[in-house]
Amino acid sequence: LPDDALASALEALAADVARSAGRLVVDERPDAVEVSATKSSATDVVTEMDQRSQDHLVARLHEARPDDGVLGEESGGASGTSGITWVIDPIDGTVNYLYGIPAYAVSVAAVVGDPTTAGAWRPFAGAVYNPVTDELYRARTGGGAHLVVGDGQRRLAPTSCSELAQALVGTGFGYAARRRESQGRLVLDLLPQVRDIRRIGSAALDLCAVGAGLLDAYYETGLNPWDLAAGWLVATEAGADVGGFHGPGEALTWACAPGLSATFPGLVEAGTREHLED
Ligand code: IPD
Ligand code: CA
Ligand code: CA
Ligand code: CA
Repeated sequence: LPDDALASALEALAADVARSAGRLVVDERPDAVEVSATKSSATDVVTEMDQRSQDHLVARLHEARPDDGVLGEESGGASGTSGITWVIDPIDGTVNYLYGIPAYAVSVAAVVGDPTTAGAWRPFAGAVYNPVTDELYRARTGGGAHLVVGDGQRRLAPTSCSELAQALVGTGFGYAARRRESQGRLVLDLLPQVRDIRRIGSAALDLCAVGAGLLDAYYETGLNPWDLAAGWLVATEAGADVGGFHGPGEALTWACAPGLSATFPGLVEAGTREHLED
């Protein structure tokens, strides 16, 4: 891993570019946001602003760090020579953006290793910025996780929840139709065992929410590196327990308050094996 001085500088850079891309998507949000294309399925939409935000991030990162690679959700990434890659989601929560629901974010993380190979990479600095609420989550390895709002900053910590029955659990549903059915079956298992379920609509914000104690736990299957790179680091550095597995069918990502470590991961791992690995 890069030393703390570099990690600290890249955490600041991640925060800076996430803020400026976030302002772009809010300031230039068209009155009627239009779907410019669909991707894996009819529900998997992309808008002109997803691409513009990515172009903005790629240009700024390339200017500041010309030797680093960039892997983003939309087209226009680049490989680098430094061993550091920026893994970016230009708008995480595009469906919320489309409707004007204030739960979307720009996610930017600096990682080592190869982010296109499962298990072969690791984020070490990153930021998740919600431009509507002006909340910036930032973290670097060993540096803790912080929420910056206006001039104030606070260190994040997960909840002290230790009972599954009292756990508020976030989740998300990937777009592929074949996946949705099995995700529904997993929710059916889980819902009677927990306090309630939230589907906020942005995986990056869900992971930050576990770090900030706004959710007791979160899980989702089928995430891509750009959805989770920065949020994973924020949750981890906040002191949440974070993990997952790559099964033959699906990858599972989960995060929870440490008091739930003995119950929650086992439950969602077993449920994922039962319902999703076909
Ligand atoms: C999506 C969001 C959503 C999650 C999906 C992601 P996008 O990302 O994070 O919460 O459930 O799996 O694909 O497409 O809005 O960047
Ligand atoms: Ca998308
Ligand atoms: Ca995403
Ligand atoms: Ca996205």
